[in-house]
Amino acid sequence: MKKITVIGAGNVGATVANVIAHKDLAREVVLVDIKEGIAEGKALDIWQTSSINNFNTRVVGVTNDYLKTKGSSIVVITSGLPRKPGMSRDDLIKTNALIVKDVTEKVIRYSPEAIIIIVSNPLDVMTYCAYRAALKDERKVFGMAGILDIGRYKAFIAEALKISPKDIHSLLLGGHGDTMVPLPRYTSIGGIPVTELLNKEEIDKIVERTRKGGGELVNLMGTSAWYAPGAAAAQMVEAIVDDQQRIFPVCAKLNGEYGHKDVFLGVPVKLGANGIEEIIELKLTKEEKKAFDESAASVKSMMDVLDSMNIFD
Ligand code: LAC
Repeated sequence: MKKITVIGAGNVGATVANVIAHKDLAREVVLVDIKEGIAEGKALDIWQTSSINNFNTRVVGVTNDYLKTKGSSIVVITSGLPRKPGMSRDDLIKTNALIVKDVTEKVIRYSPEAIIIIVSNPLDVMTYCAYRAALKDERKVFGMAGILDIGRYKAFIAEALKISPKDIHSLLLGGHGDTMVPLPRYTSIGGIPVTELLNKEEIDKIVERTRKGGGELVNLMGTSAWYAPGAAAAQMVEAIVDDQQRIFPVCAKLNGEYGHKDVFLGVPVKLGANGIEEIIELKLTKEEKKAFDESAASVKSMMDVLDSMNIFD
């Protein structure tokens, strides 16, 4: 059993810690925040559900004390400001880049071997930021977005078809933003292609709602979502802890796959004990490739914004 650290005890970070504990994925979960008392309080609250929810994972909270994170095998970084209504994820880049760089450097100091999962927004750029700050193997620094986006997509399909979301399998490509590329061609329900169960108009509507899924929640709540983002990050932790070799869409550094290099983008990967074990390359139609290229261009332009900040030596 392992020690897992979650940086940021906001709604997303606390949810990640809570789900990891519920699934008993670690001996200890360390929750870290900069605000005095927040991580301690939320960790204590979660720990006090252990006998009720039947888990052993010890959950502890600390204020900025990275020494307590020493020797973590996985670190999930959720730090940064969330979106407010009217903001795009990209509006957060300047503030969150400084935060993500700072926490990644601290994490690496105490857990140089850790696999790092980024959840902070704008997701793809913050994954690049953490990769630059961590100075480590690109297969061990990656971002959570695809599982969340696909979770939304499956929820909408389950609703439209009045079927169990558990029977839906799907994939999604591209950045975590309005240019994400859900793939109806790779979506099936109990083995049946979704294209045989829903017409193009219905699918297009679901794809569009998925693309704007984060914004829909920001508009409802005045801040961004946490249950699905938290559960999605915990599912990646589970795949790594149990060496499951599961196939998930994950934000990864591309090295020529899909015709792109040195860009961080959502692609299907095999996730196991070593982090990204393999990037899976699909044959795309002309239209899908065009959408993927547009998504890559959009993420690349944000990576350029990060580069122009000159925050790395
Ligand atoms: C969302 C935020 C977390 O999509 O990016 O809800």
